[in-house]
Amino acid sequence: MKTITARLTDIVAAAFEKAGYDPSLGTVTVSDRADLCQFQCNGALAGAKLHHKAPRAIAEDVAALLREDAQFSMVDIAGPGFINLSLTDAALLDAVRALAADEHLGVPQAESPETVVIDYGGPNVAKPLHIGHLRSAIIGEALKRLTRVCGHKAIGDVHLGDWGTPMGLVIEELHDRHPDWACFSEDFDPATDTVPALDAASLNEIYPFASARKKTDEAFRDRAHQATFDLQNGKPGYIALWKEILKVSVGDIRAAYEKLNVEFEYWYGESDADRYVPALMEILEGRNLLRESDGAEVIDVAREEDTAPMPPIIARKTDGSITYETTDLATILQRQQDFAPDRMLYLTDARQSLHFEQVFRAAKLAGLVGENVTLDFLGFGTMNGADGKPYKTRDGGVMQLSDLLATATAAAYDKLRESAYLNELDDAEKQVLAQKVGIAAVKFGDLQNNPARDYVFDLDKFLAFEGKTGTYLLYTVTRINSVLKKATAADKIGGIYSDTERDLVLKLLLSGEVFTRALAEKAPSFLCDNAYQLASLFSKFYHDNHVLGEEDADKKQSWLWLMTLVRRMLLLHLDTLAIDAVENM
Ligand code: ARG
Repeated sequence: MKTITARLTDIVAAAFEKAGYDPSLGTVTVSDRADLCQFQCNGALAGAKLHHKAPRAIAEDVAALLREDAQFSMVDIAGPGFINLSLTDAALLDAVRALAADEHLGVPQAESPETVVIDYGGPNVAKPLHIGHLRSAIIGEALKRLTRVCGHKAIGDVHLGDWGTPMGLVIEELHDRHPDWACFSEDFDPATDTVPALDAASLNEIYPFASARKKTDEAFRDRAHQATFDLQNGKPGYIALWKEILKVSVGDIRAAYEKLNVEFEYWYGESDADRYVPALMEILEGRNLLRESDGAEVIDVAREEDTAPMPPIIARKTDGSITYETTDLATILQRQQDFAPDRMLYLTDARQSLHFEQVFRAAKLAGLVGENVTLDFLGFGTMNGADGKPYKTRDGGVMQLSDLLATATAAAYDKLRESAYLNELDDAEKQVLAQKVGIAAVKFGDLQNNPARDYVFDLDKFLAFEGKTGTYLLYTVTRINSVLKKATAADKIGGIYSDTERDLVLKLLLSGEVFTRALAEKAPSFLCDNAYQLASLFSKFYHDNHVLGEEDADKKQSWLWLMTLVRRMLLLHLDTLAIDAVENM
């Protein structure tokens, strides 16, 4: 359905036209002086130049027509020619009833839906997930859901890092520890030989160990490099071992994402792009994009107008191995063939922005995607500790994701002691609730920031029952739940009985366009703000009125109806942010 401002724009534009002015002047926006009016149109000011007439005179002509429309409780002209508008309660009620009947709850659906591939998560196999992977997963999942809520098709691909040097490091370290394993013998036969079972805990120990070792042990580093190369060239023993590493590590990664409500349609990895490399090279060759440079093959992507350095891409190194850039180009080819998307959106740490700019330029030069396909990158800021530096463990190490979530769950558990409800639960239920509250707090604490910005991870603040937090939103929903459980759901709204209710109704009517805005800006933070504002208005309403004890039946029915809608709207926000609500807390 159309947003309320779009519908009012139609009406005001028609009035401009009828009065002899350009209808495009009729754009209506939400008022920035809520104390004066609900909506405003500033078109008369722009119309002055166009029609060579004083803006106030134009506004008068238009306002005279709008005053004939019974929907408006007020049509005023302010200052140099702003048209201020408010709707009657009857009109607001009609609009909010229509909103409740809309399956999309007033979120405008895209007129020409796009297919969007979203590349997020990006964990590296064999490395434990650490907090650096948290933001990509949380923001990516929210944007994917938001894309869908706005009527587009979204495909999520985790794009595992499963084909690079970390794999070689782990293989070589295992080689040193278990030289007798069949996979390290030159005559390994996949038909008869097997690889010993690995487990996640030992893998989580091996990678950091090997990674530290390569910094001091040059010979080891070279062997790991060779192992990566051999793996990429299909050495049977290494492939078998790699598959085992993959199985264990991906199982671990899946479990972590599941806890976070993060789901991927595809679990492709960099290794899956390998099949597309020959075709990619052929295209690059055919377009004359490869230039020889010190034995390597590079692609020039710099443009004359560049003001910052734009180094060429190394497509193939001197030793014949491919790079992170080649893999991403081959993946674009795969995505184009499999999904023919209108847009590909990538989410990583902002420090990879040059990489993606290079890759996107090369993809366009090579014609891997058409001119009208958008290649889009969202680089996010870092999650910092109280000292303003990237968040670390107490001993200064990189915090693993599982530890972070355990910390958040424990803190939520502590926090929930304030609630009497906790006593009604057994230990397992308490744990489930604490985990949901903890994860909601972490997610909301992240998503409420503009993604590009760094933010300070402050669990205490994120878990507060008051203020712009996930806890507050979950708590607000549970308050509504407890009322609705005790009263029969109403099926109509009969009236608006207070200013707070009017504000609530307006907030509901304006929520749909917030989704559109959040998607356009790639900023789920708009949804966080809106959910918080809605919850705050509800809290005020709840504080002012005793719904269950209300004797006026019409009033009570209207209130219950409104609460049901507020609940739906809050849940739509939370669900889009991939935050699980709780029934009670
Ligand atoms: N695995 C990479 C990393 O940890 C992120 C992958 C991002 N996606 C991509 N298509 N390059 O840095």
